[in-house]
Amino acid sequence: MTELDDLLATWRARTSVRAFRSEPLDRGVLEEIFSAAQAAPSWCNVQPWRAIVTSPPRTAPLGAALVRAASGQGFLAPEVPFPKEYPSPHREHRASCGKALYRAMDIARDDQAARHDAWLRNFVFFDAPHVAIVTYDARLGPYGALDVGIWLGYVLTAATALGVATCPMASLAGYPKALRAELPIPETDVILCGLALGHALDGAPANAFRTTREPVAANITFL
Ligand SMILES: Cc1cc2nc3c(=O)[nH]c(=O)nc-3n(C[C@H](O)[C@H](O)[C@H](O)COP(=O)(O)O)c2cc1C
Repeated sequence: MTELDDLLATWRARTSVRAFRSEPLDRGVLEEIFSAAQAAPSWCNVQPWRAIVTSPPRTAPLGAALVRAASGQGFLAPEVPFPKEYPSPHREHRASCGKALYRAMDIARDDQAARHDAWLRNFVFFDAPHVAIVTYDARLGPYGALDVGIWLGYVLTAATALGVATCPMASLAGYPKALRAELPIPETDVILCGLALGHALDGAPANAFRTTREPVAANITFL
């Protein structure tokens, strides 16, 4: 086994989990994940990632506030714009991921009520005991967001290596007012995404599918 084999095994073990058990992680495990991810690189070493990480009993009220916002407001108002469209080939990737999830959950394509309920599950973090709300200083522009993305990859890798299940969630960023009312997020920061953390609920239909990846030639040009 090379070091890359070890890393690959961790990356391949990671998957977005959408059904969690309720018991919280040890505080030490949470701290280990985020301490490990401090090793992430960033442009000029500015280390722009910021996260507020909840544990019970702080997680549920945040979820309740988001569910109220998502149920009432009816539209999203993210501080960092969501994609307006998904041109090909992104559209096809997005559709096949959605289809696989709904198939696993036995939700019919035209069952709007069930799809809406499944979407609302985002805002209770799929019952995860912890959620991290990820922000960064907007004055750094898109390269700050790039740094945060790299860091997020480190967080996901460290969590997987410690046997912790995760789901990154941009959907949460759709309701910044609700998040800002509940959390001390600096005005200079923008909200990028959430991250659910906990233990996977084994056997849950929402966890019973895997996404696929294109061969490397679809993404990378070697000259
Ligand atoms: C930045 C980011 C935001 C995401 N937002 C959501 C989300 O709001 N809800 C959700 O269920 N999954 C979300 N995901 C998970 C993706 O759907 C998932 O990573 C993708 O389908 C690949 O599947 P995998 O993570 O299981 O490999 C997000 C992932 C990333 C990286």
